[in-house]
Amino acid sequence: MTPDLHARHRAVLPDWLALYYDRPLELTHGEGRHVWDADGNRYLDFFGGILTTMTAHALPEVTKAVADQAARIVHSSTLYLNRPMIELAERVAQLSGIPDARVFFTTSGTEANDTALLLATAHRRSGQILAMRNSYHGRSFSAIGITGNRGWSPTSLSPLQTLYVHGGVRTRGPYAHLSDAAFTEACVADLRDMLGQTRGDVAALIAEPIQGVGGFTSPPDGLYARFRDVLAEQGILWISDEVQTGWGRTGEHFWGWQAHADAGPPDLLTFAKGIGNGMSIGGVVARADVMNSLDAHSISTFGGSPVTMAAGLANLSYLLEHDLQGNARRVGGLLIERLRAIAATNPCVREVRGRGLMIGVELVTPGTDTANPEAASAVLESCRAEGLLIGKGGGHSTSVLRVAPPLTLTVAEAEQGAAILERALRNAGDGPPR
Ligand SMILES: Cc1ncc(COP(=O)(O)O)c(C=O)c1O
Repeated sequence: MTPDLHARHRAVLPDWLALYYDRPLELTHGEGRHVWDADGNRYLDFFGGILTTMTAHALPEVTKAVADQAARIVHSSTLYLNRPMIELAERVAQLSGIPDARVFFTTSGTEANDTALLLATAHRRSGQILAMRNSYHGRSFSAIGITGNRGWSPTSLSPLQTLYVHGGVRTRGPYAHLSDAAFTEACVADLRDMLGQTRGDVAALIAEPIQGVGGFTSPPDGLYARFRDVLAEQGILWISDEVQTGWGRTGEHFWGWQAHADAGPPDLLTFAKGIGNGMSIGGVVARADVMNSLDAHSISTFGGSPVTMAAGLANLSYLLEHDLQGNARRVGGLLIERLRAIAATNPCVREVRGRGLMIGVELVTPGTDTANPEAASAVLESCRAEGLLIGKGGGHSTSVLRVAPPLTLTVAEAEQGAAILERALRNAGDGPPR
């Protein structure tokens, strides 16, 4: 990107709109798993614009569906019957696992979670919400009110009363030293204890099965099934935020909640990011009695817009027909093994974690447990210099590398990206003590 464009960005956009890299990148086009910058440099894309380019850049099937629909009608609003919206809703409802499911489309993950909170609080007639520590659910006033991550919480004011629960982070915090079983028991006891302190009318628990912005952290499998049993005793709803974990990215499961499948499906499920492959689609799926609990009209002018729905339908069909969940499991499995092997000899790496094509690499100061955000930034820069784009995240400091390529990733591309990461990590490991 030209310095001029960076200066113009800074002059006219908010200071808090973070940009990656010392010299920010302007991406001009993409194809498959690759993108190009304004200077003509090519990069292997292991972040997909925050896990959003789910299948591939410029996927011909999606591009054609968008062009064809745009040539017919771009907009009609939810006041008119909308065939692509109804078709996508039918498919999402069926895939969700939620019985008698209803679907409402929004334009972002934030708005999807906002809607889920509105539904749960209206249904339960309560403003109390349980959220996980280290969570991120979006940027609106209510979503910030359930975000347990200091770096993404610009205000403590909130329309909700939020209680933060342990369990989303397995290897840090007061229960980290426990076995999986004991960790789960401790979190369940904490949840029970917390519920005992409330008025007894909590509306819902909202949780990301694998925390995205928080650095791809997760509880032991089955934890949310145990939570569900406790919540069910009081009729408290379970909202699974699948904005990052949905559509097979985690390889073993189509939805993140299925790692806790003993619980059965959640009462509400929210989605966004990957389903539109870059077109702005978000949404909430809920049991009909929960979805229909609003007693006033509600519309979305842009939610479910025909062009985005056409993109979603084409993208979802491609995903299912090409078994991209299976590809995420196979190629993601190889990639995570390769990264674990690299980490074994690198003192900067505390942990390699994740599932499928959702892999986190947590960096620390060698010989300590202290988060190392400088090393994470250095690795990001080195990878960029060698033609690889990755992301970063993490709860208390941004010290986790996030690897989340499009789900069509090939073995050769995984190898190529891992080799670049290996060199970048080695440079960070060789650097001066931080
Ligand atoms: C788990 C999760 N929920 C919700 C959101 C908000 O989605 P959006 O940025 O589309 O509003 C995000 C965004 O990163 C997310 O990771």
